[in-house]
Amino acid sequence: MTDKKTTRFRVAPGGKLTGRVRVPGDKSISHRSIMLGSLAGGVTDISGFLEGEDSLATLAAFKSMGVAIEGPDRGRVSVEGVGLRGLTAPREALYLGNSGTSMRLMTGLLAGQDFDSLLTGDASLSGRPMKRVVEPLTRMGACINMTAAGTAPLAISGGMRLQGIDYVMPVASAQVKSCLLLAGLYASGRTCVTEPAPTRDHTERMLAGMGYPLQRESGRVCLEGGHALQGISIDIPADISSTAFFLVGASITPGSDLVLEHVGMNPTRTGVIDILMRMGADIRIDNRREVGGEPVADLHVKSAPLHGIDIPPELVPLAIDEFPVLFVAAACASGCTVLTGAEELRVKESDRIQVMADGLATLGIDATATPDGMVIEGGACGGGLIDSHGDHRIAMAFAMAALRAKGSIEILDCDNVNTSFPGFVGLAAGAGLHIALERK
Ligand code: S3P
Repeated sequence: MTDKKTTRFRVAPGGKLTGRVRVPGDKSISHRSIMLGSLAGGVTDISGFLEGEDSLATLAAFKSMGVAIEGPDRGRVSVEGVGLRGLTAPREALYLGNSGTSMRLMTGLLAGQDFDSLLTGDASLSGRPMKRVVEPLTRMGACINMTAAGTAPLAISGGMRLQGIDYVMPVASAQVKSCLLLAGLYASGRTCVTEPAPTRDHTERMLAGMGYPLQRESGRVCLEGGHALQGISIDIPADISSTAFFLVGASITPGSDLVLEHVGMNPTRTGVIDILMRMGADIRIDNRREVGGEPVADLHVKSAPLHGIDIPPELVPLAIDEFPVLFVAAACASGCTVLTGAEELRVKESDRIQVMADGLATLGIDATATPDGMVIEGGACGGGLIDSHGDHRIAMAFAMAALRAKGSIEILDCDNVNTSFPGFVGLAAGAGLHIALERK
């Protein structure tokens, strides 16, 4: 273990989750509110902004490109938009920490600027595939240098003239789609992106909300460069990806009864609810409403006996970030759960298939990693020492497993929980998880 692995979670077995919880704001929407707010004319007022390291990395990057941003102050941020052509050259490399969304979306946006930029990240981000954005952007006329392995640092040349392309994505990726749409704002002609399966559409919704003309038909979105964005007010709902830990925790633990408030229910994000309901979860969706172009609801979850299922592959992109904790649900379910079609999990903040299979095996669960998924036999869950490999969602998933474990679970390398879920330990402890944070 290196010195960097400073924070661990120690989670005692047992407990149950009760009460009302509002998890922090949606990470995907928080990133986009800063990016598009910066490119708009006028002020964008944001509430519910996620004050996590990933979205703060995006905020810092736009500040260093000359955008006046106030906050965050208890989730409130005010962005004084500079217009599509108003960003200025950053003085230094833009360091984006652990955040793949920042890097992939900003690569598209920066490819259209008239200044050079350099994007860097931490060890995890520097190992993640960037060719998936560099290749189509190069076809649009961008000039971007990456390592021979197809990874960051990314050196983006300014002053290139971009042309729109008609791109059929080989992988279902909202990050690639959004990257190309952002480049398309600066391209001559029309940029169209076709996706092999529906992916999160927050970029499209926010562009439309800011008055940017775009055409959407099933599986395809097109826009033309050169129109203007107008600043708006954005109320960011709670992140369904962070809510997922509590949905699973409450489902697997007898006596749990929990309300999750103001949860973003964009249909491109709700796969976790569909999958858990198919497994027998008791989740009631209350107070459906629309807030700033995004559907929102309160979720009332009670414990229920879960059973294993074959997860329909079409639900995979709609639950892509929730599989670590869904694997914990499968471990606590009766029978077998099979996931296929999820090879993307191998190139997230960690190789989430291997790291989860290893961790579940440590707890005594029969989990077999496959190239594109996992086969999990539900069973009795023991305690043990888990290495999260610096992956926030692995750390939080195993913390929830302790609710059903026979012994304590200690989880290493948990600093990055702050990338998406600052305050996780306090919120989870308040709801009934026996979790303590240790710094070593
Ligand atoms: C995100 C898209 C997803 C997701 C990531 C956030 C986004 O990545 O895993 O956490 O905000 O667009 P892919 O689109 O690469 O699957």
